[in-house]
Parts: sequence; structure tokens; C-alpha cells
Amino acid sequence: MRELVVNLKDHSYKIYIENNILYNVASYIKDVYKNDKVFIITDDKVANLYLDIVKKSLEKDYKVDYVIIKNGEESKTLTTYAYICEELLKKDIRRNNLIIALGGGVVGDISGFVASSLFRGIPYVGIPTSLLAQMDSSIGGKTGIDFYNRKNILGAFKQPLMVLIDPKTIESLDEREFNNGMGELIKHGAIGNKKLLDLLYSKPNITEDIIYESLSVKKRVVEIDEFDLNERMTLNFGHTFGHAIELKYGYKHGEAVAIGMLMAIKMGIDLGITDKSCYKPILDIIRLYNLPDKIYDYKDYLTDVFYDKKNIAGTIRFIFLTKLGECMIYKITEKEIKEKLL
Ligand code: GLY
Repeated sequence: MRELVVNLKDHSYKIYIENNILYNVASYIKDVYKNDKVFIITDDKVANLYLDIVKKSLEKDYKVDYVIIKNGEESKTLTTYAYICEELLKKDIRRNNLIIALGGGVVGDISGFVASSLFRGIPYVGIPTSLLAQMDSSIGGKTGIDFYNRKNILGAFKQPLMVLIDPKTIESLDEREFNNGMGELIKHGAIGNKKLLDLLYSKPNITEDIIYESLSVKKRVVEIDEFDLNERMTLNFGHTFGHAIELKYGYKHGEAVAIGMLMAIKMGIDLGITDKSCYKPILDIIRLYNLPDKIYDYKDYLTDVFYDKKNIAGTIRFIFLTKLGECMIYKITEKEIKEKLL
């Protein structure tokens, strides 16, 4: 078992990473939640695999009810958000009850958003079951839904009471979904842990230790910058171009991040920020995990990304690797782009 603490100004919480922790959820939750009722939010696919296990583990100590939504990104909508709130209210949820988000990124993001807004805030615990959610969205408190054709455009920062990660759940993912999660894991190695990145070339089993190392990179920056105003933006390495590609061509998130990392490395090299030697190792590891390596010219997307939400007063903050395992935030203006890159 590995344990991480995310230390924030107003609220700190623990992340427990343990094989088969799903069978033992209540013993952890008891430390942070003393009332009698819990509400699990999950999706139909995850419910088939894990709902009974988690329910059983909780029923010794709590009254348990649940809401099931449809699996997939199409559920991250205002309609599903309203459905969940309605079901919870029908089931007589109270503001001192607990929500448990059991599932991948969609379940985590929408459940967290419900938890942030229902009764103006209700506690929640995250139990991410996809590698992508375990690597990224389940920690750091970003919650939200897609709206107006924009991803995560309605949302809130709402930190969980606790996060429980069972690496065994990774075994149920198909190859594409596993590799999707690897996109974010590779990113964590690339921006903040060269040793972790090096280890991934041997295609290791994703153990408690590897998840711990990867999340430690995220924890470090979330602690410094909970609300994503500066350092936390380093987690967006590969995301600026990735988002443009993801929506346009229908890639999964981690796939788009893989392509976005390659584009950002090229741009960083052209600006003289990124060491040229970074490109090949990242291309190699992306190929090793069967992530898409299609080359898109970053210059074709510079105009698009200027209108992305990261555009602050005519400046884009890009995240560039300086070398493998290290990155920096670089503020670039439209003028500089035109003069240096186009
Ligand atoms: N996914 C990037 C972040 O949590 O800030």
C-alpha cells in the first residue's frame, strides 16, 4: 500500500493506492466520514464490474444507495447532471451525506460537480477505476461537465475527502483504454520525473509504486497552485494542441495528449527552449504504448489555440519541456508567434 497526502491551504486529503482496496473501502472511509448514509454514483459498465464489491464493503457500516449513468463522454452533460441531482434528491440525500464517485473520468468529473453544487457542497470520495482517471482527474479537485461544445466548461474546484485507487481495476481495461491512461502517465514522467519515464520503456506492470510516483508529480504542483493560475498549468503539457486535435478528430484524451506532446516539443525546439534530444525518446515511448504518432504541424493550430480558454489577455502560456523530466511555462504573444514561428 502507498499513501500520498495532498496538502492544501483549506483542506488536505489522502490518496490510498492499494491492490484490492475496493473490497475494503469502508475501513478507509470511516476515518473521514461518520454519518450513516452514502450514495455511489457510477456508470453502467463500471457498475457491472465493481458496484456489488464496493456496496458490500460499505454495507457493514453504512446505508448505501446508488445512481447509475450511461458509460461514455456523452454523459458529461447538463442533462445527466440534472438526472443525477434528481435521483439523489428522490432518494432523500442530505447535505451531510457522502457521495462516492466510482468510475472513470466522466463519472469522477460529473459526480464531483454534483458534490460541489448540490446543497452548495456535499462531501465526496473518489474511487477512480480507469488508468486515465487514476493518473489525472481523480486528484486535484477539478470537476465539471461539457457544455456549448466545450469540454469542462461548466465546473468547480471541489477537493475530495479522500481518493482510493485500486491498481487491480486496470486489469479490466481494454488495450486502447489502458494506453489512453498511459498518455497521462508518460506526461507526468516527461514533465517531472525522468526516472519514472525511463522505467516506462520496459513496459512494467502498473504497480502501486508507479501510480504513486506519477501522482507525486501532480500532487507537487497542485499543492503549490490549487486553482490553476500558474505552476499547475505545467500539467497541461501536451494539452494545448491536444485539445484542438481531440475535438477535431475524435481521439481519446490520452491519445490526443500524446500527439500534443510531440507538437509542443517541436514548437519548443523551434523556439530554442526544448532540447532537440527530447523528441525521439517521447516519440519512441508513444509508439511503445501504441498511442497515435500521427504528425500534425503545430503551426496549423496556433490560431485555434489562441482562442482556447488559456489565452490570457493576448498571451498564451505554453508548457515546454526544457529537457526530459523538466518543463517550464512560457508566455508567448501573438506577435512573437508571427515573428519567430510563422
Ligand atoms: N488535468 C490537469 C489538472 O488537473 O490541472
